[in-house]
Amino acid sequence: MSVAFSDTARAEFERLLTRYPDREAVILPVLHLAQREFGFVSDEAIVYVAGLLGVSPAKINGVATFYTMYNRKPVGKYHVQICRNISCSLLGAEHLIGHVAGKLGVKPGGTTPDGKFTLSQVECLGSCGTAPVMQVNDDYYENLTEASIDAILDKLA
Ligand code: FES
Repeated sequence: MSVAFSDTARAEFERLLTRYPDREAVILPVLHLAQREFGFVSDEAIVYVAGLLGVSPAKINGVATFYTMYNRKPVGKYHVQICRNISCSLLGAEHLIGHVAGKLGVKPGGTTPDGKFTLSQVECLGSCGTAPVMQVNDDYYENLTEASIDAILDKLA
């Protein structure tokens, strides 16, 4: 199944091209755009982006699989990403991941049957001073506790 940007995304793509020095430099923001547009970075999206930028699909695939912020599989309406790197780990990230897994009834990498939540363990989210940290879609939540996570997820549910 082939994919294509909407007119709005296509205009954004054209704007991005003017802001970066070459086609390779613009790969990251275009992959973000593709993820926003298509929900995740599918194989079809990789071929499409490669065609738009005139670079090989292998190159685009390499970038998309290297960075954890690109979802190569569909995710739920809310993508709950909990950092498990050193600062968060020292402050109980593994415990919190287990807590969320139990609350949602999914293992890390899984999506709830209603498609509402996907749980992921990720590397440093760049907010180590306020660990433990999680990102839900575009929002950051910091200094997490079991209680604060429960309140956040209950509100989203
Ligand atoms: S270690 Fe968790 S945000 Fe950096």
